[in-house]
This record gives sequence, C-alpha cells and structure tokens, in this order.
Amino acid sequence: MKAIPQMEPWFDDAEADAVFAYMKSGGWLMEYKKTEELERLIADYTRAKYCVMTVNGTVGLTMALLALGIGREDEVLVPNLTMIASPNAVRLAAARPVLVDVDAETLCMDLTCAAERITSRTKALMYVAFNGRSGAMEKVREFCAHHALALIEDAAQAFGSFYNSKHLGVFGEIGSFSFSVPKIITTGQGGALVTDSEELYKKLRRLKDFGRDTGGADIHNDWGWNFKFTDLQAVVGIEQMKKLAWRVSRKKQLYKRYYDALCAIPQISFLPTDLTNTSPWFIDIYVDDPDRLQQYLKEKGIGARRIYPAVHKQKIYQQAYQGVSFPISEQYAARGLWLPSSSKLTDEEVDIIVGAVAEYYSKL
Ligand SMILES: Cc1ncc(COP(=O)(O)O)c(C=O)c1O
Repeated sequence: MKAIPQMEPWFDDAEADAVFAYMKSGGWLMEYKKTEELERLIADYTRAKYCVMTVNGTVGLTMALLALGIGREDEVLVPNLTMIASPNAVRLAAARPVLVDVDAETLCMDLTCAAERITSRTKALMYVAFNGRSGAMEKVREFCAHHALALIEDAAQAFGSFYNSKHLGVFGEIGSFSFSVPKIITTGQGGALVTDSEELYKKLRRLKDFGRDTGGADIHNDWGWNFKFTDLQAVVGIEQMKKLAWRVSRKKQLYKRYYDALCAIPQISFLPTDLTNTSPWFIDIYVDDPDRLQQYLKEKGIGARRIYPAVHKQKIYQQAYQGVSFPISEQYAARGLWLPSSSKLTDEEVDIIVGAVAEYYSKL
C-alpha cells in the first residue's frame, strides 16, 4: 500500500504554468503587482477592507503587535494550547505573553480564565482559532472592548472558516493567516494580515517596507523593516486561491467521513464541529493513548501527528509557569492526535485509515 502522509501540499500544472508564464514575462520576483492581486483576492474572500501580505504567519503576528504599538512592558493574553508561534511572536515584539487556559468545547481561549490574568499592563488579546473553530466572537469582542484590549486574531489555521457566516480574522483590529506548506492553500511560506482600519493598513505597509510610504524613494518617516512577500510566491497563491472553495468543502467532507466512521468507538472523542462554518484544517481526535495509536498507524504506513504540547510545558516557558496548572490545555494536549488531513486524500484512503484505527481499538 502507498504510504499516506499526515499532510501534503497539492499543486498541479496550474501553478507550474503560472510560474513559467510569470518568469517569461520578465517579472522581478519581488513584491509588486502579483502580490497586490493576491492581497485583493484575500481581502475579497474574507470581506476585510484591506490585506497586507508578508513573509509568514509568525512575522505577521509580530507586525500586528508592532502596528498596535505593543512592545516592552506590555502583556498580551495568549492561549496555552497553540502553535508556539503565537506566544513567540509576542516575545519577538518585546512584550510578554501571558498564557491562558482554553475552553474544552473549542480549544480556544477561555474568557473566564482570561479575565483572571488581566493586569494594568495587559494591552491585547491574541485569539487563536484552534483548527478553524472559534467561540462566540461577539463575546470575544465585547470582552476586549470592556477591558480596553486590542483584539488580534491568529487565524493561521482558519483560512476558509467562519463564525456566524463572517470569516474568522475580521472580528478584531487585525487578523493573521499563514500560508505555510501544511495549510489549506500554500505559498511555501507566507502570511496575510487583514484589517478594516485604513490607519493600521498604512502602518502595516510601512512596517514591512522600511517605514516608507512609497517604494523607489528613500524617505523613512516611520519605523519599518523588510517583511515583504514576493511576486513569485504570489503567482502560486493566486492559483491556489482558485482551488480554495473546493478545498474548503472537501475538508468538511473528509471530517464528516472520519467522524461518521469513528464516532461510535467509545475510546475516541471529537470536538463539537459546526461544519457550516468550520472547515477543519486538520482531522483532530482525542484518545487516551495517542502515542500508541500513532505508532500503530505508522507501522501501517499512515502518518499521524500529536497536537501541540501545552505552551507552559515547553522548555522556554516552563520556568515562568512552574507550579501553575492549566487543566484543559494539559488534558487535550495529552490526548490529541491529528490524522491524515490533506485535501488530496481520496475517500478510499480515508476508509483505509479509519479501518486501521478501528482495528487498533478492536484489538485492545
Ligand atoms: C496558530 C498558528 N499561529 C501561527 C503560526 C505560524 O505561521 P507560519 O508558519 O506561517 O509562521 C502557525 C503555523 O502553523 C499556527 O498554526
């Protein structure tokens, strides 16, 4: 049997032809018109007013913090169950990430726990839509407004996912997406920031372009560095965007197929998932023995991956959080496993995977 990876990107002649045509056209590869075209496509898709492409999601989050004036002495609330880029972006902006436990239904930040961590230094809340799911976003907005916090949405895993028919990433001041290789669409590396504020949009543009308002002249009225995207990647992104709608519906079908086949196995639990709004990035299941199941699947040529350890258990955060317990993130981090999740998977492959999982539990 052909090995089934946990994730693989999907390109075809469309991307290859577009890159070839772009190279033949004499493009300079650097950020220019193709990047603008991709920014427009992403803004239209998410219904944000503005979009700014940048090198990746980690830098995008850091730019969002910088644009909002967050830095030294400031604290930012970050969920304790997320990819390490979320809290590390806060560190890169020289501020302090303050970890907060997550809610057991969504694995997104628990606002009750967040309220307990607010101090006079708290300036922002980074809401991570874990695996495309979210809590009630109007409540998150109200919470931030009530506590005078900026809302940054780390929607890296949520491109194609909505809350009440509104795209995730557009509820706060700035939303951030990632187009790294495992994402629903990819540009190899890549990040997009969306905002409805013209002021923040201009600030983000300056941040990524040496503080200039226009290229081609060396006038720097603001701080800025070089976090620009490339047109070479944008050409790939534009082709990937054409495939997005199909992939969103395919991700939902895949999740449903897995769910229908495995939900009756008592040892496996799924999170509540509203497939009208949520396009699960990865297929996540929660079991008592994720390592053994992962090993069993590996022996059958099926890739699986553990979800993230709770952030406070990572070496770089341990010391600051010694003796602190985050029960929900600890519990779900200990039980989470990502099954093969590429939109390229066929129904037959899913049937092989669920067959192997069912076989594993039937032998216990
Ligand atoms: C929740 C979350 N935030 C941020 C990132 C970082 O994005 P990038 O890899 O594009 O830097 C990721 C990447 O997977 C992520 O899952």
